Amino acid sequence: MRLSGKVAVVTGASRGIGRAIALRLAAEGADLVVNYSRSGEAAAKTAAEIEALGVKALVLQGDVSSREDCRELAENTIAKFRKIDILVNNAGITRDNIVARMKPEEWQQVIDTNLTGCFNCTQAFMRPFLRQKTGGAIINIASVVGLTGAAGQANYAAAKAGIIGFTKALARELAGRQVTVNAIAPGFVDTEMTGALTEKQREAILGLIPLGRVAGPEEIAAAAAFLAAEGRYITGQVLSVNGGLFI
Ligand SMILES: NC(=O)c1ccc[n+]([C@@H]2O[C@H](COP(=O)([O-])OP(=O)(O)OC[C@H]3O[C@@H](n4cnc5c(N)ncnc54)[C@H](O)[C@@H]3O)[C@@H](O)[C@H]2O)c1
Repeated sequence: MRLSGKVAVVTGASRGIGRAIALRLAAEGADLVVNYSRSGEAAAKTAAEIEALGVKALVLQGDVSSREDCRELAENTIAKFRKIDILVNNAGITRDNIVARMKPEEWQQVIDTNLTGCFNCTQAFMRPFLRQKTGGAIINIASVVGLTGAAGQANYAAAKAGIIGFTKALARELAGRQVTVNAIAPGFVDTEMTGALTEKQREAILGLIPLGRVAGPEEIAAAAAFLAAEGRYITGQVLSVNGGLFI
């Protein structure tokens, strides 16, 4: 129970990687805020599984691309738990297209959710992080694509590379307060986001991964738990969890 007594907020925690991270942090003893944007039913299910682990769960709806929603998320978190120790900026979307055909709204939606969402949410929690004097951990979910680029994902790659720059800058800003800021760059993870891939695309991807398989969401969650529980002297870093896809 490395995170006993800690309070963690995970954005986009109703399913996929966010859900796995929320469950893992709860299993380590943290109370959880389960943020979701649309699927309230799935978020309630995640929360019930968290509570079954013997910790508290608070479900809060909110779209991370909305500054107002992020402000409310922070306010309601502090009203309930009085503090935040761990913030995981996980919410993300894809709107894939080659640049030649990419619609401005496909570009904008991905930047607004994946990059500006990370900024909005972090800024909303900045005051408690700065005031409480107990340090903390901010973990931003980037992607291998933010390091390598990927054809058809210029919007997503730009947002994820942006998250990496944001992480490094914020790590410098918050180090004096003992708040660590790191990014996790997953490779291919078995979630609904990658469920849209064709069998042919999956085969091609598998051929590029030295470990020969995609990750389970719980393998990304293990990295988040490590950073949150054992990473007190790790800040401004990008932890690649990609099966060797990018070495
Ligand atoms: N699956 C992968 O292979 C992979 C690889 C690298 C990085 N990632 C990143 O991991 C994160 C989670 O991805 P996933 O695979 O679990 O995807 P997913 O689509 O299964 O889950 C994404 C979650 O984010 C939530 N979300 C989307 N827009 C939101 C918004 N505006 N406000 C709040 N919540 C919102 C969704 O409701 C969902 O719960 C994303 O940032 C994604 O870019 C995924």
